[in-house]
Parts: sequence; C-alpha cells; structure tokens
Amino acid sequence: MNEISRYHEAEQQNRALWDEIAPIHLKAYNEVALLREGKEVLDEIELREVGDVTGKSLLHLQCHIGSDTLAWARHGAVVTGVDFSSESIACANQLSKELGLPGTFIHSNIYDVQAVHEGQYDIVYTSKGVLCWLKDLQEWGRIIAHYLKPGGIFYLMESHPIIMALEEEKSGELSFAYPYFHKDAPTEWAPGDPDYADGDYVPKHGSTEWEWSVGDIVNALIQAGLQLEFVNEYERLFFRMFPSMTTEDDRWFQLPKYSKKLPLLLTLRARKPIDK
Ligand SMILES: C[S@@+](CC[C@H](N)C(=O)[O-])C[C@H]1O[C@@H](n2cnc3c(N)ncnc32)[C@H](O)[C@@H]1O
Repeated sequence: MNEISRYHEAEQQNRALWDEIAPIHLKAYNEVALLREGKEVLDEIELREVGDVTGKSLLHLQCHIGSDTLAWARHGAVVTGVDFSSESIACANQLSKELGLPGTFIHSNIYDVQAVHEGQYDIVYTSKGVLCWLKDLQEWGRIIAHYLKPGGIFYLMESHPIIMALEEEKSGELSFAYPYFHKDAPTEWAPGDPDYADGDYVPKHGSTEWEWSVGDIVNALIQAGLQLEFVNEYERLFFRMFPSMTTEDDRWFQLPKYSKKLPLLLTLRARKPIDK
C-alpha cells in the first residue's frame, strides 16, 4: 500500500472513531453541561491569550461537537467550525440550535476544506487534542495562513508534544515509551481503552495517530509565512492523560510529582503579516 492510500485508510478509521464517540461526548462533555448552565467553558489561559473576540470572525479547525466554538460565540465572535466527522457536525448544529448560539458548521476534512469553503477570518483557532490526527503539518500551516485575514491571528492550545512520548508504567512513574520526533508511519492504537470523557464507554474503533514535535509545529507556521507572537508552556492539562494526575475541578489535571520538571500544555499565537 502506498503512503497516500495508507494515510487515507488511517483517516477513514479515525473518522469512524469520532463518528462513534461524538454522540457519547454530547452527553458526557463537561463543556456541554457548562454551556447549558450559562457558565464559562473556555479556560482563563485561552481567554487571556486569544484576547477580546467581540465582533470578530473565528474559524475553529477540528471543532468536534462545537462546544468550544459556541463558547466563543457566547463571547461575541462570529463562529465557523470545521470537522470531518459528520456526527460531530450534527451534534454541533444540534447544540447551536438548542442554546440559541449562532454558528456555521462545515463537514469537511481540513485538508479538503478550501474546495468547499471560501472566506478570511480574524482568528483561526484550534485546541485540545487536534494535532495527532493530522497527517501533514506543513499543509496544515498553509491552510491556516490561507484562511487568515492580513493581521489576523492563529491560536493553538494543545497537549505538550513531550508528554505524548511518555507512559505511566508504574504508578506515579513516567517513562519514555513512544517516539517524540515525527516518523512518517503513523502509530496504530487498538481499541480497548475507555473513552476520555465517558469512562464507562469503550469505543469499538481504534485510531491511527501522528507525532509532531514542538519544532514541527512552529516551523509549519513560520514556513506558511506567519509570525510567532508567543509560545507558552504550562503545568496543567485538559484531560486525565496519566492515572496519577490530580484535579481540583475535574477539568484541569496536574502531575504534582513532576512539578517544575515537565510541561503538560503548549499554547502559541501567530499572526499573518499585514502585507501578505
Ligand atoms: C479531540 S477532538 C477536538 C477537540 C475539541 N476541542 C473538543 O474536544 O471538543 C478532535 C477532532 O478532530 C477531528 N478531526 C480529526 N482529523 C480531522 C481532519 N483531518 N479534518 C477535520 N477534522 C478532523 C475529529 O473528528 C474530532 O472531532
């Protein structure tokens, strides 16, 4: 099998997984409950680092069930979400209607979206569990640059790539179990692990994922012509990746044993120059 058909097959499998778990997430996501209660869904880090979105157009890549997208709408952004899972898009539209929060949701692979959607945005946003599904980060950078207005910003909040290489084999002890650096062949994960949002549900589909280093991420954006404004690292994560993580609010998780030793979260902001 050549690389193109192998990647295509990987994306098909991943899409089947996301289609399977989207309705589970609509019931299980904390964010959905918070949206329904009129409470804040977005974290203080992203609110501060993205800045005021009032009246701004925002394109959310890999928006899943639209919970974060609609949270930005509640802050005054005019939002558009893109996701390749039709079930995710159906959930996003359902939530938008139920909550009376306007949003346009596009069912498309991000690598194909330019064929079905035109436009330029003040903000392109993507967050929390997105990069490992992407087969080509250079192209990802070009798509982001394409959709930004001159002067517009791209914002990413993601698990720090270093922790994707780690595993908790012995309780509380992290060790390097997977490659940190990108390799062309993606890693295949068999089904069997409980869903990250609903621990009682075990998805039937496995996944195929790619590793991307910090260098891959920032270089993809620089090569697409964007100017980096900051790269930040934090000691908390948006899901329980390792069993020994602790939490105070069931939304953000820490590793006290590795305090001051290990970054868990990566954020960055990059701007499209005015003259591009
Ligand atoms: C972890 S979720 C996104 C995180 C989001 N913040 C959330 O949890 O609500 C990952 C999303 O990426 C989408 N996805 C993966 N690969 C994609 C691709 N190539 N194009 C568009 N969407 C993709 C999946 O369908 C899924 O909805």
